[in-house]
Amino acid sequence: MDALAAIQTLATAEGRADPYPQYERLRAAGPVVALGEGFFVVTGHQQADRVLRDPSFLVTDEAALERTLPGWRSSAAWRWLGRTMLWRNPPDHGRLRRLAGAAFTARRTAQLRPDVVRLVDGLIDAMGGPGPVDFMDAFAFPLPVAVICTLLGVPESDRDWFRPRAHDLTLALEMFAADPDSMARADEAATDLEDYFVGLLAHRRAHPGDDMLSDLLAAGAAGQIGGAEMVAHLALLLVAGFETTVNLLGNGLSALLARPALTAELRAHPELAGAYVEEMLRFDPPVQATSRFAGQDTDLDGVRIPADGEVMVILAAAARDPRRYPRPERFDPHRDSVPSLSFGAGAHYCLGAPLARLEAQTAFPMLLRRLPRLRLAGPAVRRDRLGFRGFAELPVLDG
Ligand code: HEM
Repeated sequence: MDALAAIQTLATAEGRADPYPQYERLRAAGPVVALGEGFFVVTGHQQADRVLRDPSFLVTDEAALERTLPGWRSSAAWRWLGRTMLWRNPPDHGRLRRLAGAAFTARRTAQLRPDVVRLVDGLIDAMGGPGPVDFMDAFAFPLPVAVICTLLGVPESDRDWFRPRAHDLTLALEMFAADPDSMARADEAATDLEDYFVGLLAHRRAHPGDDMLSDLLAAGAAGQIGGAEMVAHLALLLVAGFETTVNLLGNGLSALLARPALTAELRAHPELAGAYVEEMLRFDPPVQATSRFAGQDTDLDGVRIPADGEVMVILAAAARDPRRYPRPERFDPHRDSVPSLSFGAGAHYCLGAPLARLEAQTAFPMLLRRLPRLRLAGPAVRRDRLGFRGFAELPVLDG
C-alpha cells in the first residue's frame, strides 16, 4: 500500500530531509488513512481541525500507550511528558494551563516588545561583518532563548548547557516511535533537566524574584501544582522556547530570501510582517505533527476510529491541503486565509503563539532594514529531524 510506503520513507533520512512529497502520497490515499493496528494518519485540513478541537480525542490514553510504547513507564522522558499540560486531559490540563496562562496572554506578551527590539538590535550588531555568518547560531537560536530564559527566570548563561538537552528531550516527541539510542538520550536529558530545575527552585525559594519561577512556587504553596509537576512544567516551557521559534526564524528566513521580490516587498512594507509570518508558519511548520487518541468509537470523514485508536495529525500536510489553500506549494503572503494549524487548535492550542509571533514579526523587518543586502550565502544544512523541522546551519551574508 502506497500510504504505508510513504510512512516508511518518512522514517528514513531521505524522508526527513524533504517530507512534503511523502505527505502528498499520503493525501492521495485520502484525508484520513487507516494504516492498521489502530493507527491512523490525517492529512486533510478540515479533518485535522476537527480532531484537534473535538474533546473526545485525548492527548494520552494509558491503554493505547501500553500498546504503542510498552516501556513508557520506565522512561524518564515520557514520565516528564506525562506530567506536563501537553499530555494531560481535563481537568488537570486546565489547571496546569491556567497557571502559565497569565504570563503568555497577548497583552502581557506585547509588553515584552521593547525587550525583544533591544535583543534583536544587539544580535544584528554582532552579525554585521564582511564574511558569512550562520543565522541559526548568530540569531535564530539566541533570540528566543534569551526571551524565554528572562520570562522564566532561568540564567541565560546556562543556555549552552540547555541546548543539547532541549534537543535530546524532544526526541521523545518525534513522529515515529523513537529508536533505543534516541530514547536513551531523551531519558538522560529529562533526568538532567529535572535535577537542574529542582536545584533552581530550591534556590529561588530562598531568593524570590519577579519571574515565573517565583509565581510557580507561590502556586505550589497554595496547593495548585505539585513539586514534580512544577519541574516538568518549567522544562516544557524552556524546551518549547528552544526547539520551535528557533525553527520558525530559520525556516522563515530561508523561504523569504529564496524569493527576492518578496524580500524586497517586506523590506519596503514592514507592516506586512504579520501576514508574512503566518505564511512562513504555514509553508514550513516548525512542529510538523501531533497525535491524539480516540476516547470512544468515532467516525472521522467516513473512517471508523475505534476507542484507543491513535491518530497522527500531520499539521504540515494539513497546511498544504489544496482544498484549504489553493496552490499550497507556493509561498504567498497575500493569501486570503485564516491562520494555519501550525500552532495547533482547540484546548491545546500553543500557549506561546503570541510570543513566537511577536519575536518573528519584530525580527524580520528589523533584519531586512538593518542588513539591506542580506542574502543566503552557501548551502544550508537541514537538521536530521522530522517532527521538529529546522536547519542546523543557514549561512547568510549582508553583501
Ligand atoms: C513558532 C513557534 C512555535 C510553534 C510552531 C509551536 C507549536 C505548537 C503546537 C503545534 C502545539 C500544540 C500541540 C498539540 O496540540 O499536541 C503547541 C503547544 C504548546 N506550546 Fe507551542 N509552539 C511554538 C512556540 C512556543 C513557545 C515560544 C512556547 C512557550 C514558551 C510554547 C509553549 C507551548 C505549550 C506550553 C504548549 C502546550 C499547550 C497545551 O497543552 O495546552 N510554544 N505549540
